[in-house]
Amino acid sequence: MDTILEVNSVSKSFPIKGLWGRTKGVVSAVDQVSLILKEQGTLGIVGESGCGKSTLARLLLRLIEPDLGEVRFRGQNILGLRESEMQHVRKNMQMVFQNPYSSLNPKMTILDNVAFNLWVNGESKQEARKRAHYYLDAVGLPVSYAGRYPNSLSGGQRQRVAIARALVLEPDILIADEAVSALDKSVQAQVLNLFQDLKKEFSLSLLFISHDLNVVEYMSNDVMVMYLGTVVEKGPADRLYSKPYHPYTQALMNSAPSMEVGINTLNKHTPIKGELPSPLNPPSGCRFRTRCNFAEERCALAVPQTIEVGPDHHVACFLYETGNEARVVS
Ligand SMILES: Nc1ncnc2c1ncn2[C@@H]1O[C@H](COP(=O)(O)OP(=O)(O)OP(=O)(O)O)[C@@H](O)[C@H]1O
Ligand SMILES: [Mg+2]
Repeated sequence: MDTILEVNSVSKSFPIKGLWGRTKGVVSAVDQVSLILKEQGTLGIVGESGCGKSTLARLLLRLIEPDLGEVRFRGQNILGLRESEMQHVRKNMQMVFQNPYSSLNPKMTILDNVAFNLWVNGESKQEARKRAHYYLDAVGLPVSYAGRYPNSLSGGQRQRVAIARALVLEPDILIADEAVSALDKSVQAQVLNLFQDLKKEFSLSLLFISHDLNVVEYMSNDVMVMYLGTVVEKGPADRLYSKPYHPYTQALMNSAPSMEVGINTLNKHTPIKGELPSPLNPPSGCRFRTRCNFAEERCALAVPQTIEVGPDHHVACFLYETGNEARVVS
């Protein structure tokens, strides 16, 4: 499969202001993150709250500017593009957010919520509404819903509208940021299946962000695990789930309750020890070391390099350095 999106060593820090506007410190929200999204593939991004998933998504669309790194869409580094050129890229990379309540305009009908994105891109009202109808149908909403307002819809139906609104611009990439997290489990399953169907129907590449390991496993071909702004492990979903290497991935899997679609053999419900450190003052070296059962002195002294532990399977952990194979945990 070809690469549609390639991200190289992207970083973003936010200065935190204290009293009188003085800078109190810096939150390192995304640190040297690299990823590859394959054409018509699904890359799942998973990690605890605050690990930088949404910041990363916003960086890809340049809704916030990266401090460092490269974002290549179909080979072109988009970080150097002018705002007018970025509009074309943003049309091709659409986002669906967690909260369908706040992302829809309550004063517009469902149809116009979907058509709006086309009007602002210069389409006539008539043509925009025609296409909006097509996409409302594609996401499984009955024609009779077109004239309704968002407040008369359920959470799942509103999320379908939000998906139609993203699709109407005919993007190549859909970035779903916790798109099913606010929904009940049964509705979640329906919307996940909808994503799968739409992906095939419209040849989409999907970046699927969630804190829920089971959901990510169900959706993804490839998975990337983030911890406090860094990537600790990434690889093909089947490999990563059947044999997680990084102590954090293992701990995450052991603490995740299983769902029908997800892991069960790994489900031991052991919470990850300790508190998540403040991103204002992340641990030196490996950021996971303060909660890691395998931490040793050097973990504090240097950031572990990424090591290939299997085909396309990479881990950032000293345990897997050459000569250390005997220590490999399984
Ligand atoms: N504009 C901002 N200014 C300051 N800090 C920010 C800003 N945006 C994000 N952060 C911080 O960056 C870190 C990463 O936040 P982010 O929202 O990307 O995490 P997340 O993985 O999406 O979390 P969640 O699962 O809760 O959505 C957090 O510590 C957050 O407080
Ligand atoms: Mg988020």
